[in-house]
Amino acid sequence: MCGIIGYIGHQPATPILINGLRRLEYRGYDSAGVALLERGKLAVTKRAGKVEQLACAVDEAAAATAGIAHTRWATHGRPTRRNAHPHTSGGRVAVVHNGIVENYAELKAKLQAAGYRFTSQTDSEVLAHLIDHKLASGGDVLAATTAALTEVVGTFGLAVVCREQPDQLIAARRGSPLLIGLRADETYLASDATALVGHTDQVVYLEDDEVAVCTRGRYRLVDLQNRERARQSRTIELPLGTADKGGYDHFLLKEIMEQPQSVTDGLRGRLSSAEGISHLGGLNLTEPQLRGFGRLLVIGCGSAYYSGLVGKYLLERLTGLPVDVEFASEFRYRQPVLAPGTLCVLVSQSGETADTLAAMRELKRRGLPTLGLVNVVGSSLAREVDGGIYLHAGPEISVASTKAFTAQVVAQLLLGLKIARHRDLSLAEGQEIVAALGGLPGVIARVLESAPRIKAIAAKYAGCRQAMYLGRDSLYPVALEGAHKLKEISYVQAEAYPAGEMKHGANALIDEELLVVFLTPRNALYAKARSNLEEVRARGSQLIALGTQGDQDIAKLARDVITIPPVSPWIEPIVANLPLQLLAYYMAVERGTDVDQPRNLAKSVTVE
Ligand code: AGP
Repeated sequence: MCGIIGYIGHQPATPILINGLRRLEYRGYDSAGVALLERGKLAVTKRAGKVEQLACAVDEAAAATAGIAHTRWATHGRPTRRNAHPHTSGGRVAVVHNGIVENYAELKAKLQAAGYRFTSQTDSEVLAHLIDHKLASGGDVLAATTAALTEVVGTFGLAVVCREQPDQLIAARRGSPLLIGLRADETYLASDATALVGHTDQVVYLEDDEVAVCTRGRYRLVDLQNRERARQSRTIELPLGTADKGGYDHFLLKEIMEQPQSVTDGLRGRLSSAEGISHLGGLNLTEPQLRGFGRLLVIGCGSAYYSGLVGKYLLERLTGLPVDVEFASEFRYRQPVLAPGTLCVLVSQSGETADTLAAMRELKRRGLPTLGLVNVVGSSLAREVDGGIYLHAGPEISVASTKAFTAQVVAQLLLGLKIARHRDLSLAEGQEIVAALGGLPGVIARVLESAPRIKAIAAKYAGCRQAMYLGRDSLYPVALEGAHKLKEISYVQAEAYPAGEMKHGANALIDEELLVVFLTPRNALYAKARSNLEEVRARGSQLIALGTQGDQDIAKLARDVITIPPVSPWIEPIVANLPLQLLAYYMAVERGTDVDQPRNLAKSVTVE
């Protein structure tokens, strides 16, 4: 989603800003722009399309040592040069904005009545004019910004520069992340720590309704009433190497292939085979608390939600507790009936998803304990939950989630194991799960060796127009995630059903053109799934089966078979998902889509 980078220091600002935008590209965007403070003037350059087009249009050798820049992901108004940020007002003020100004129409009408001319279709442009309007009634750019923001309904991560105060950048946050980076006599602004790689690991996170005045190497924080706020900078672990595809054609493939390592990292120091339990330092829950929960509630969006659905099957079996799973976007506006004694688990790669954050805040307001299963260290969700488990999957750059999804399921297993061992799970059962998890990185490595075979299969079916993924039990949510991945990156219409549900409606879709991906490894429901597979075969669809190595029976029924080794049921959904990641990836490559930055999608969805 939209990205912000700002710089004020003694080096030429343009290359720093452009490189910062390049690091933010993975978030998804459709246009980009930069505003430089140079010799008493504001120089603004914007382009629709990629950062490289902007890079060609700016003078990298320009003398300016301060400026702000932005990648835009269109919400209000098409992705055009005019709608790109920065937005300016009278050549005096320039702003870049992440978020949505919900009352922009009302503010715009007032500003138009006051004589302001609008040149874009965006909600963000009102911020530039509103700040300029406040400046006209006296005071400095800080006072003008705080005054303007008290009138704004909505969310913002905002950076402002003003021609008349060229030695400062103003930053403000409500609901959209923003951090200040500090280094000697230089100060950076970024919506995402990735943009600071190579510059500094000393950061200050802005909280909601805070405004910062950034000068060279210094900052000052106030709230919207101009009251001082004190906050020390902290050292963060920067996601080094993120911009490097490591020899792969796409970040997505790199991230799929990294999974033996990312799972190893997520498990490091967390498994005790002697006690058959997981050690999770960040839960902030006592043993009596862990024993006392009567229900679990798992909330997320997209793949994080699907990981929660996989988790439901695993956690209910492990803990004996009922587990509800909810889309954050639905949960936040429902009237949920929340039983006391519910442990709430918020799942998010980025830790910045607006709906998931809103759900978490609602849960806290209702007094329920919240845990975050989060990948990005220091993200808003990670900072605001009562406790949690970092996924340690490493930076995930490709918009489509792969290694983070795997890590989310692993984290739920670790959590379930911990709770279950404080309840009824026996030592022997606990040790069985520890052994299965301990062996998981090796199994993943073996499954990923089948990439060339999956590539060849993908080439055969890449022309399909519709796909249906089918599975039973915990492989049903894996089917949902498989279909989600195919949709996201190859733009093929894909659906998923529990295999036993087909005859209740979905069978009507089956014809010779439909691609069916059937998950039928040799597990407890194999016989049931196999007979569902026969039904699909009888209707002549293009059938790929995912089965267990050595299953000759399946090989006779399906046109193509992808195999996984026989594994413990505790890790089967994780293992079965890997070939589906590869299948979606190679189909997308065959179809020539923008694999790492699929159209209309953003890596982290920080607006509703
Ligand atoms: C996954 O491939 C998607 N990009 C998307 O569904 C994602 O999982 C969802 O937006 C949630 O993101 P989060 O994990 O950062 O909260």
